[in-house]
Amino acid sequence: MGTYAITGGASGIGASIREKLEGEGHRVLVVDIQNADIIADLSTVEGRGDSIAAIKEATQYELTGLVTCAGVGAHIPNKGLIAAVNYFGSVQLIEGLRPLLADLSASVLLISSNSAPLPTNPKFVEALLANDETRAVAIAATMDSQPVYSGSKQALTRWMRSHSQAYAAQSIRMNAIGPGYTKTPLSAAVENDSTYSTAIKQYIDSIPIGRPGMPQDMAEAASFLLSEKASFICGAMLFVDGGHDAMLRPDLF
Ligand SMILES: NC(=O)c1ccc[n+]([C@@H]2O[C@H](COP(=O)([O-])OP(=O)(O)OC[C@H]3O[C@@H](n4cnc5c(N)ncnc54)[C@H](O)[C@@H]3O)[C@@H](O)[C@H]2O)c1
Repeated sequence: MGTYAITGGASGIGASIREKLEGEGHRVLVVDIQNADIIADLSTVEGRGDSIAAIKEATQYELTGLVTCAGVGAHIPNKGLIAAVNYFGSVQLIEGLRPLLADLSASVLLISSNSAPLPTNPKFVEALLANDETRAVAIAATMDSQPVYSGSKQALTRWMRSHSQAYAAQSIRMNAIGPGYTKTPLSAAVENDSTYSTAIKQYIDSIPIGRPGMPQDMAEAASFLLSEKASFICGAMLFVDGGHDAMLRPDLF
């Protein structure tokens, strides 16, 4: 059995992944801004650095896997925070832990979104991928919230795909899941925001499988992708969305 670190493991999808991995007998360290083994604010460079140091210490440099799940939704008024947590809070943690991950041929899972392919501001995505946080945050401030959210997830997925070869060369498998609408505190906050509530209800009604996702749906996919059963799956983005992506983009894959 191994040791996993999960960011955002205090709530929603991350908490469900934690439960699933613990149920399989693994040790799980939660990194979160609240209710966590390692309390850290992943929106800041300092918080990311502290998290990396704390994970190294708590695991004694033995890490079997990493799940970067911490994220904030489009309802957050501070749009720079969406970029800071969703993209940099994930990518900088993975990069910082890369030597440990290589030591144990670890598996990394990023939590993206099925909104990642949606149209967004390409300059925002470019700034994220260029690791230019100041510029990305400045561009985010000029955009609507939804394309900031989807753009953060688009960049995250592109970063994962473009780095998966180099990571694989170090025996690290990286994959992502793209959850569709999933019942969590984050989605409840977006659903209750008057800007989005009507559109979200229509969106939920249009999910082909006929129900919204549950955090456990994401945990099942996460458990599989992290495990040896998925040892030949690398650089993949698995939509776990009740068929929504296939419905919306049938010819794009
Ligand atoms: N719920 C959905 O419908 C949905 C759909 C697609 C993708 N996602 C993604 O799934 C992930 C988990 O979302 P969720 O729905 O479970 O939300 P959630 O709000 O239940 O959980 C998010 C977790 O991230 C933590 N977090 C937020 N800001 C942080 C910070 N600055 N530093 C450290 N931790 C921080 C929160 O404390 C919380 O525990 C997010 O990345 C989200 O974008 C969710």
